[in-house]
Order: sequence, then structure tokens, then C-alpha cells
Amino acid sequence: MTVTPGHPRSRLDPEPVPRRDFLGLLSFWTMATTLLFATLGMLRMPRAAVLPSPSKKFRVAIPEALPPGEAYVPPGRTTAIFRDAQGTYAISIVCTHLGCIVKPTPDGFECPCHGSVFARDGAVVRGPAPQPLSWIKVEAGGGTVVVDEAATVAAGTKVTA
Ligand code: FES
Repeated sequence: MTVTPGHPRSRLDPEPVPRRDFLGLLSFWTMATTLLFATLGMLRMPRAAVLPSPSKKFRVAIPEALPPGEAYVPPGRTTAIFRDAQGTYAISIVCTHLGCIVKPTPDGFECPCHGSVFARDGAVVRGPAPQPLSWIKVEAGGGTVVVDEAATVAAGTKVTA
């Protein structure tokens, strides 16, 4: 009900909101709504696509049927594990040229990217790889080996179980 001059206001009519209060409330609700939508927008932002990489140190069981001197590369790893009469050892299969994954062969390793060839002990047979493949630290025990891809050892280092 509108108040017209000369007519008394009903006690049931709401108090009129002064213009200054109305603008203040409008500003408050505009800001609150903006913050709400900004927060919702941040919650919907895409998550990081980078997954944590697996630990460089892992335990693995070497297949019983692995012939001496033949490489076993655990799935998802960059280390070839070997077993022979002197013990167990591991060689990195990351090429020292530009980091491709080399393929174990009966005579050693071959890099599919630029043709480097490595001997069975990781020594460079043919470049362009400038360095031999790294020997990786291995600890043996309990029928499994613990490989630490972050630690290198001197070439020829083997452990016995
Ligand atoms: S990355 Fe292996 S030879 Fe280039």
C-alpha cells in the first residue's frame, strides 16, 4: 500500500527502505554474489594433470626362469636387471646421448633413436652416445631385489642374494 499525502499509513505496511540503505544492500549482495561465483569457478578449475612419478627405489622379484645374462626390465621402469653366476646387477636403459630408451639385445643394447650400440656391460660400442650406460644400485635379499634407480654404482658391481 502506498502512502499518499493525507492518508495515514497502515501499521501493516513495511517500513520504507531509505534509498541509501537500499544502495548499500544492493552493493553488499552484488559483492557476495560475485565472490560466490568466483569461488565456484575456482573449484571447477582443472586439476593438475601431472601425476607424482613412482619412487625411484623399488622392490622387484626377478622371474625364476630368467636365463643368465638376459635382461629383465620391470614394467614401467628404465632399468634392466640381470642375473649370472657372479650375482645380480642392473644397468640403466636410458641412452646417454639424448635419453631414449635403449633395447636390450643378445649382444648388449641398441638405441632406436640415433643408432648407438652398447656392449653387455653398458660400454659404448658405437656412438653418438658419449658415455656408457650407468650401472644401478641393487640390494638383494629375500628372493627379491631392491633397485634404486637414483643411485649409480661402479660398472661391474654385482650383489649375491
Ligand atoms: S638418444 Fe640414443 S643414440 Fe641418440
